[in-house]
Amino acid sequence: MKILVTGGTGYIGSHTVVELQKKGFEVIIADNLSNSSIDVVDNIGRITGVKPLFEKIDLSKEETTQDLFNRYPGLNAVIHFAAFKAVGESVMLPLKYYRNNLVSLMNLLREMETHGIRDIVFSSSCTVYGQPDVLPVNEAAPIKKAASPYGNTKQIAEEIITDVSKVTALQAILLRYFNPIGAHESALIGELPLGMPSNLMPVITQTAIGKREFLNVWGKDYNTPDGTAIRDYIHVVDLAQAHVIAIERMLEGKNKQNVEIFNLGTGIGYSVLDVIKSFERTTKVKLAYRFMERRLGDVEEVWADTEFANQELGWKAQQGLDEMTLSAWNWERKLAGM
Ligand code: WQD
Repeated sequence: MKILVTGGTGYIGSHTVVELQKKGFEVIIADNLSNSSIDVVDNIGRITGVKPLFEKIDLSKEETTQDLFNRYPGLNAVIHFAAFKAVGESVMLPLKYYRNNLVSLMNLLREMETHGIRDIVFSSSCTVYGQPDVLPVNEAAPIKKAASPYGNTKQIAEEIITDVSKVTALQAILLRYFNPIGAHESALIGELPLGMPSNLMPVITQTAIGKREFLNVWGKDYNTPDGTAIRDYIHVVDLAQAHVIAIERMLEGKNKQNVEIFNLGTGIGYSVLDVIKSFERTTKVKLAYRFMERRLGDVEEVWADTEFANQELGWKAQQGLDEMTLSAWNWERKLAGM
């Protein structure tokens, strides 16, 4: 079985390629390398023993997307990660985000239809829920107005996929990620933020390794037990394995609707301070941090109701917060050549 993984040299994409290859899938990665390194292809090969095929391609260009599908007949399904994903940047550069994220998806769906490829797994985000009214949040929760163009591209993408599936053979599984952190146990792949990261885990590990002076904790006055915001952190390998289960579900015809939606989290909410304490406990490294004002656009607390994914996919996150923070640290140390 041949799977096209767009964005497959990215953080979640690369971990998913590893899990696909472990299950015997042949993988073709299409990525424009705008936010990842070509070295990831070799490193995936070092982990699995099979170097995936790689095509450097900008999916927002119609002709290059057509050319890609013409050169790879016999694709069985697509997992679509390729998108710009920096929330803050999307506020400043909305057209860059709408054009890239949505035109890429539309080009992809058009080529899938032309080539009779029916199944797509789409990388969505819990950001579509905004601040949920009820916690834990389940897949039936209302979609809130997106707080950023990035979040809006995820909402619009879900709608585009749903509308196309109503009038074509397209089947989709939309995976709404909570907060992916951590890295593969080999420390050969991990989160590789080009430029200044904004996500918590890479900021923690870069502070601990000395690339940054301290971690700013955005907000200590939330209505939470310790005043810092709460998220549902999930190990990236757990997340990757869910993608393999989702693609197999459709390929084996086990999906029950043309479009299925699953929350991928652990079901446990941890505060920023919980993550800091876990990091210090597992790595024995003292973290320099200070409390600052809240960050614009942040929600107070969100964690997943994972019942539907557990039941329907037979999938449940296995790794706890300590494995996540330790694996993130091992990756940062590897990046520093330690
Ligand atoms: C987590 C918590 C911050 C950095 C975003 C996107 C989501 C997905 C994951 C792409 C928050 C706090 C962070 C720092 C801090 N991205 N924090 N100091 O905002 O929950 O989710 O990334 O798919 O779609 O919205 O993740 O890691 O940025 O923040 O205190 O230097 O850590 O305020 O409470 P977030 P995050």
